[in-house]
Amino acid sequence: MNAPSSGSSSSRPPKRRFRKKFAGKRPHQSGHGALADQPAAEQQAPVPSGPPKLAEGFAHLGLAECLLRSLGDEGYDTPTPIQSKAIPHVVQGRDLFGCAQTGTGKTAAFALPLIHRMLENRPEIKPRRCRTLVLAPTRELAAQIHESFRSYGRHARLRTAVIYGGVGQHKQARDMMKGVDVLVATPGRLLDLIGQRLVDIRGVEFFVLDEADRMLDMGFIHDIRKVVGMLPAERQTLFFSATLPAEIRSFAESMLRDPLEVKTTPQATPAETVAQSVIFVPKAEKKTTLIDLLRNEANGRVIVFSRTKHGADKLQRDLTKAGLVAAAIHGDKSQAQRERALAAFKSTRPPVLVATDIAARGIDVDDVAYVINYDLPIEPETYVHRIGRSGRAGQSGTAISLCDTEELSKLIAIERLLKRELTSRNQRPAAASPPARGPGRRGPPGQANGKRRGPPPRAFSRSKKPRTADAAPNPHRWSKPRNSTSN
Ligand SMILES: Nc1ncnc2c1ncn2[C@@H]1O[C@H](COP(=O)(O)OP(=O)(O)OP(=O)(O)O)[C@@H](O)[C@H]1O
Ligand SMILES: [Mg+2]
Repeated sequence: MNAPSSGSSSSRPPKRRFRKKFAGKRPHQSGHGALADQPAAEQQAPVPSGPPKLAEGFAHLGLAECLLRSLGDEGYDTPTPIQSKAIPHVVQGRDLFGCAQTGTGKTAAFALPLIHRMLENRPEIKPRRCRTLVLAPTRELAAQIHESFRSYGRHARLRTAVIYGGVGQHKQARDMMKGVDVLVATPGRLLDLIGQRLVDIRGVEFFVLDEADRMLDMGFIHDIRKVVGMLPAERQTLFFSATLPAEIRSFAESMLRDPLEVKTTPQATPAETVAQSVIFVPKAEKKTTLIDLLRNEANGRVIVFSRTKHGADKLQRDLTKAGLVAAAIHGDKSQAQRERALAAFKSTRPPVLVATDIAARGIDVDDVAYVINYDLPIEPETYVHRIGRSGRAGQSGTAISLCDTEELSKLIAIERLLKRELTSRNQRPAAASPPARGPGRRGPPGQANGKRRGPPPRAFSRSKKPRTADAAPNPHRWSKPRNSTSN
């Protein structure tokens, strides 16, 4: 599953032995004019060399030694804040809500203690059953979480499976035949296989909803209720997300038993490693503004978010016509196309990835330098997740939102959620300012309201990349080394 790193000639430190399935190689910084590489080569099993390295910084969390070895392999030294806070409670069997910023290691915060719990006793698993069930909103995220369990559990002889739609069910049904320790799934295909009696979730001991607020909103709640209705009452349940709106939280509590809320920051706090700004631009000029940004500023790995699938396709065509290399990922693409787009995005010559919100949550690709919101999202929480594709694991990133006059109310909703105004790169229209000013105003004062920050959109140049005032230097003691590609 993991491969020795290759393909880079920079003076970075030696590559680690493990490569994340969903992590990209560092991209060339040559803009988007070149053809994308072929998808990354198949990953290989790690080659053990020398005595096992234990992640000493995790030792006090009470995790099994085989997990400390996996973390040593991964190159993790220190737990992230959510890992320090959540792991001891999960090990003790508590139900919890875990809320922490994007890219701060929530996956390991539930995967590690659950593997530990499963190792405490190892009953025989019945055919088609699983001990741990993790649900995620998208196929790509389910596959990524599955890879994380495999990586963290590599010394624990875990049996795992992943189930999602868009591909044949045969392999998935076969993987489940003897039963597994960990099943990661998207809800639709899971219910389908349960209906065909190919999967049985009545023996689940540990249940996780990743991106819990998304899983409990209109799109999924019906399926989630069905799944929860089939689970044993006696189970440990964990909900994780970077955003947990109050409405969802109170409703979610009915699915948890005496839950603990473990937060590292207030919910919906964006990753502070991401420099955020907004450009006010008429709708008709959005396309040229985007192309200018891509040509003159936004190099490396860039995701451009579009609100609609149709819009994503059109944008991909427009970027291609402009001589840029772009790939689109959205729900109307075949799974093979989705996988190809993501693999190309992780290559050393990544195309601009034009995506709908199927790529907004959870997806972990190293070195995403820019997130550009071509359209603002309808749900303000989605903004936090979108920009969180960048600035992960202590790396820095930049998020730029293009806002036209019809989107001002969406911008205001986002700023209300963030409790601050975004730095504007050009003149902020009066209608984009909240009515309340003076003592009661929201957001830090004096942050460029109405003031021009940097040159207007057309004038951005590579050498004078505007950095906004709101990007903090890397605050994480636990940051991955720059060459890290684990997970
Ligand atoms: N203790 C650690 N030390 C170094 N790197 C870590 C550590 N824990 C996790 N990481 C790395 O941090 C990155 C982000 O982790 P993860 O995907 O779990 O974040 P997340 O909090 O779930 O983000 P999101 O809210 O976007 O889903 C991954 O590449 C992971 O390998
Ligand atoms: Mg996550």
